[in-house]
Amino acid sequence: MPLVNAKEMMEKAREGHYAVGAFNINNLEWTKAILQTAQELKAPVMLGVSEGANKYMTGYKVVAEMVKAMIETLNITVPVALHLDHGTYEGAQKALEAGYSSVMFDGSHYDIEENIQKTKEIVALAKKKGATVEAEVGSIGGEEDGVTGRGEVADPKQCKMIADLGIDMLAAGIGNIHGQYPANWQGLDFDALEKIKATCGNMPLVLHGGTGIPEDMIKKAISLGVCKINVNTECQLYFAEATRKYIEAGKDKEKKGYDPRKLLAPGTEAIKEIVKIKMEMFGCVGKAE
Ligand code: 13P
Repeated sequence: MPLVNAKEMMEKAREGHYAVGAFNINNLEWTKAILQTAQELKAPVMLGVSEGANKYMTGYKVVAEMVKAMIETLNITVPVALHLDHGTYEGAQKALEAGYSSVMFDGSHYDIEENIQKTKEIVALAKKKGATVEAEVGSIGGEEDGVTGRGEVADPKQCKMIADLGIDMLAAGIGNIHGQYPANWQGLDFDALEKIKATCGNMPLVLHGGTGIPEDMIKKAISLGVCKINVNTECQLYFAEATRKYIEAGKDKEKKGYDPRKLLAPGTEAIKEIVKIKMEMFGCVGKAE
């Protein structure tokens, strides 16, 4: 199946009371591991790509072409959306031009008027390309690719203003942060989420910072309108841990264990493992059958 946008995925998730996992990719191994797991579990999936990861992989075009070709060569039949994660105004335009089927325009650091204006322009461009748009209100805490947020909670009135611009998904800060949660984390702000849901109606909501959020909170967030959950750090941690074990066991020194295809294999398998855990938790397994 060719790349799809996220519209139908989000609608089905909302009606079916589950969330689609959006997993960040960094390279070929990441992409392969996530696509194969989605196919094995018959789960719809979104591949998130930050601007930093796009740059690392040498550009939007390379990423879009790699993902499209891999869907074909691996015979992936579940719906896959290629999504720009935390895109800038310029980045979102470049991603759409290169064939991304979905983009996040993160205007949360602008004042609300500018966020509205720029979101509108990205929505108009995305519509022409048949792509979907995620917008953000209120910054999400933690650090990702050098961008630091304060972990504020979004204002429901501002959420409604942005939700009415023709976007397809809305990310709103509810005390979630990127990266690992500190031991003294207060948990998700469900009162805020309920208010946002009440003002934004049917708009599918996005939960960033999916790493380390306990299952009961994930389930509650889904019951309150979350349809997409982003996970990045946890895949990195699983990859690093498996790779470290391989090296510490001296496997790179046995036979041709230094071959990158062997060296990266345990990490790739570990990504599959955590993606499976997350997909089961989000309830999206079997939803692409
Ligand atoms: P984590 O790295 O905390 O999983 O967050 C991922 C994310 O929200 C990507 O936008």
